[in-house]
Amino acid sequence: MIIGVLKEIKPNEYRVAATPTAVKELTRRGHEVYVENNAGVGSGFSDEEYKEAGAKIADCDTVYDKADLIYKVKEIFPEEYKYMKKDKILFTYIHSNAHREMTEALLASGITSIAYEDVDDKNGKFPLLIPMSELAGKGGFLAALHFMQAVHGGKGMLLANVAGVETPTVTIIGAGASGMGAAELATAFGNRVNILDVSIEGLKAAKDKLPPNASLLFSNRANLEKCLKETDVLINCILWDKTRKDHLVYKEDLKLMKPGSMIVDVACDDEGAIETCRSTTHDDPIYEVEGITHYCVDNIPSAFARTASTTLANATLPYVIQIADKGLKQALKDNKYLRRGLTTYEGKLTLLETAVKHDIPFVSPDDIVKEF
Ligand SMILES: NC(=O)c1ccc[n+]([C@@H]2O[C@H](COP(=O)([O-])OP(=O)(O)OC[C@H]3O[C@@H](n4cnc5c(N)ncnc54)[C@H](O)[C@@H]3O)[C@@H](O)[C@H]2O)c1
Repeated sequence: MIIGVLKEIKPNEYRVAATPTAVKELTRRGHEVYVENNAGVGSGFSDEEYKEAGAKIADCDTVYDKADLIYKVKEIFPEEYKYMKKDKILFTYIHSNAHREMTEALLASGITSIAYEDVDDKNGKFPLLIPMSELAGKGGFLAALHFMQAVHGGKGMLLANVAGVETPTVTIIGAGASGMGAAELATAFGNRVNILDVSIEGLKAAKDKLPPNASLLFSNRANLEKCLKETDVLINCILWDKTRKDHLVYKEDLKLMKPGSMIVDVACDDEGAIETCRSTTHDDPIYEVEGITHYCVDNIPSAFARTASTTLANATLPYVIQIADKGLKQALKDNKYLRRGLTTYEGKLTLLETAVKHDIPFVSPDDIVKEF
């Protein structure tokens, strides 16, 4: 199979889908890989390294033209719609739920698209999301470390345990992949760390993994209010139900917090768990409401592009290998978890939540595979 690795065009997106190591694995298995000029530069991978791994370096038009499988990181932008063609496979983060126009373009093109974020595993986890969540949680804590500094407009507090000084309090809501990433760093720096979750199992697992400076609390209004009053940094890592109209932290609640404290919204749902959250960018990451600094960058992992590209490629490569070695149809037949990520197939929408949200007819991926 011919695999095409593209340079991402989203502003501030420095990740690349395949590292030279991943390319080497594909070429070693007899597949051809085309990599767009400078595709890996933002992650510190040169064209030379890709060439040494067996890739051919080419311009964007050529890579799209040659590729049977388009291997990317981000969703498809209007400038890229023209490259979407029937008989090609797109494997990337798609988020069709959030992008109606793009979904319609994919359907109109007839391309087969598979979304990283919807591929799950036997434990109901999302193996292609988890690596990015861990980085987002860790990056969220590091952003707090940065923006709490006086030289960056903060109240000049070092988020660490310093002898003779009251230890800062970091509260993390959600003990999943991103919450645990944030907790790992926040506890390692010696902070007092509160972690709230509605899952007792999740809290138990967190307790086993974290040092004693982490307190595990059930997430309810009373515990949240108590934490808000004592916290210096609140990190929101909840997987929020997008249909919910309420919030956990209301604008009014910011008055409970100490002046100059900070909210890092890793989950980053506009007016989601944190009512005052609106997504920000790496160029303009923070804003203030009621004296509380908000950091709501929606692509935190891109700041750590090399680490992010490597961990993402480690996670996605096994699926690319299955598709490339067996062919699309056999890979989808054999792997029901990969099949769950199927978003469009020959003009049919195969992802239920997007079909419901946008009122577009849905065909089950299982029914698609029965026809093979
Ligand atoms: N900003 C970014 O760059 C970035 C990057 C990666 C992921 N994310 C987002 O971060 C969010 C979390 O991702 P994740 O992989 O950590 O999810 P996850 O499913 O691993 O963890 C979510 C946790 O939230 C808990 N939870 C649900 N409702 C709760 C409540 N009311 N109170 C407390 N806890 C509650 C769940 O029990 C679960 O443990 C997602 O929305 C994801 O899209 C953002």
